[in-house]
Amino acid sequence: MSQITVRRLNFNFSQDIEKYWLNQSAFKTHLFNSLTISVTDIEKYLTLNVKKRINFIDNPQLKQEAQAFIGQETQHLLQHTKFWANLHYLGYEFDTHLSWLRWILFNILERGMSTNLNLAISAGIEHLTILIAEFILEDNSLAEADPQLKKLFEWHAVEEIEHKTVLFDVLQNATKNYLLRISGMLIAYILVFSFLNLGLITLLYQDKKLLDKKVWWEFIKFWITKDKFLYKALLSATDYLRKDFHPTQKDHLFLIKKVTVTV
Ligand SMILES: [Fe+2]
Ligand SMILES: [Fe+2]
Repeated sequence: MSQITVRRLNFNFSQDIEKYWLNQSAFKTHLFNSLTISVTDIEKYLTLNVKKRINFIDNPQLKQEAQAFIGQETQHLLQHTKFWANLHYLGYEFDTHLSWLRWILFNILERGMSTNLNLAISAGIEHLTILIAEFILEDNSLAEADPQLKKLFEWHAVEEIEHKTVLFDVLQNATKNYLLRISGMLIAYILVFSFLNLGLITLLYQDKKLLDKKVWWEFIKFWITKDKFLYKALLSATDYLRKDFHPTQKDHLFLIKKVTVTV
């Protein structure tokens, strides 16, 4: 039986949620808002790729895990999209950002590239997602966030850890081509980091905070000096380069145990 639990949470985000709902920081709030904007189409892309492959999976347990993966990711994208109404209510516009993201994901990659390359990119995105889940759960980064958004991101992080092996195993079930796996990871890192930062810039620009010194100081602290996210991303990419890499090699269960997700 699959250990991946599909929880059906139903978020209802109040319009009273503060504009800067995370530590009253424009940088941190918009970093997570940017994730909320991009994650919907990225996760739609992941589920599409798994759906294309699922009937060819010859391992019954993996097939069941792939079904549960689709269930979890579908819930994530549905719940994150609900917060878009709050962002629109606050006056933010991100249609152009979404058009570019959708064009790359669905026109260039999904329709233009092979199923196996798309699976490799998807596995790379899932590897990167774990890094974000670690940032959320290990460092308790959302301790002072609005409670509903804290719950949204922590629930999401827990389920990312629960299904962290699925796309890697689906890819390996389709092909064990090492170069394809690595190419997928590189494309995934470039894609996710580009759109994460583009979304951040889009929102900060609309707040007229692109030249704000505090924002840039926090940007440097996040990527380089305090949270060292750039260094962690490079480390995790290097780990993925190992020929015998598998997502189970790093223990994340202790992180899940720290969080109680109530439906
Ligand atoms: Fe997800
Ligand atoms: Fe995921």
